[in-house]
Amino acid sequence: MYNYNYQDRIIMVPASEDIDPLEQIEIELFLEALYRHCGFDFRNYVFQSIRRRIWHRIHAENLTTVSGLQEKVLHDRSVLNKILADFSINVTEMFRDPSFFLAFRQHVVPLLRDFDCIRIWHAGCSTGEEVYSMAILMHEEGLHHKTRYYATDMSAQVVEAAKQRALPIDRLQAYSSNYLLAGGTRSLSDYFSFQHGQAVIHPFLSEPILFAQHNLAVDHSFNEFHVIVCRNVMIYFNSALQNRVHGLFYDSLISSGFLGLGTRESIAYTSHSALYKEMDPIEKLYRKIG
Ligand SMILES: C[S@@+](CC[C@H](N)C(=O)[O-])C[C@H]1O[C@@H](n2cnc3c(N)ncnc32)[C@H](O)[C@@H]1O
Repeated sequence: MYNYNYQDRIIMVPASEDIDPLEQIEIELFLEALYRHCGFDFRNYVFQSIRRRIWHRIHAENLTTVSGLQEKVLHDRSVLNKILADFSINVTEMFRDPSFFLAFRQHVVPLLRDFDCIRIWHAGCSTGEEVYSMAILMHEEGLHHKTRYYATDMSAQVVEAAKQRALPIDRLQAYSSNYLLAGGTRSLSDYFSFQHGQAVIHPFLSEPILFAQHNLAVDHSFNEFHVIVCRNVMIYFNSALQNRVHGLFYDSLISSGFLGLGTRESIAYTSHSALYKEMDPIEKLYRKIG
């Protein structure tokens, strides 16, 4: 066994070298059952990461086996919702990795100016901080009025939360310094007001954003985009699923469109690596060839 700290709780997970064929079978059957029961497909997520979350839920429900959890998930809607929430890791922040947004401002924005209408897809948008950051950036660059944003996530709950435009007050200071490091030209406080003890993003920023549930593991392309931003999402996918998603993104980008990935993600070694040119290898900004 080894200990794993999950949301300040210590979870005991059988050590990876202990993974016996029975546990492997149980986890595969569990993921298959989940997929067939509710259409969420976690079969191609990184195995050890999904395994840790399964064990977290097993302990939280006072169970002892993956098969026991499977029975609960299939027959108790509330446990199903809990495991789906466990699998959707929602960590995000405004101007997360500020240097990414700075590089976007410097290298991509000048190439977007000539378009009459710009469509940006934020895939795996979590609670919306990433797309609101982009809307602020585009506003400051004078492009917000002609931009449409599509912010999607597999989780209906986080999509609903994103639509509320609320920012956690205890994070505002950190968000303000991110904003300045990202090349912000004003003050982050220009973009929200306090209402009922919450910081709420101004509606002019959310107005051109379409929030929707979309699952990268099973759903298809739904538009053509000038820019796709998918950060800190594919890190949880195995290479087969990463390749599927890169196929989806490639088909969804206009010719010479832009792709932005997370710091620990890359197009290298994927099925589509030869189809993009690197614009900024550190900030993981790519441009579709052709
Ligand atoms: C760690 S958050 C990243 C949020 C944001 N992109 C950022 O970098 O701050 C990962 C998000 O990806 C979403 N996600 C995970 N698997 C997904 C899938 N198959 N399809 C769509 N969204 C997914 C999760 O629900 C979660 O909200």
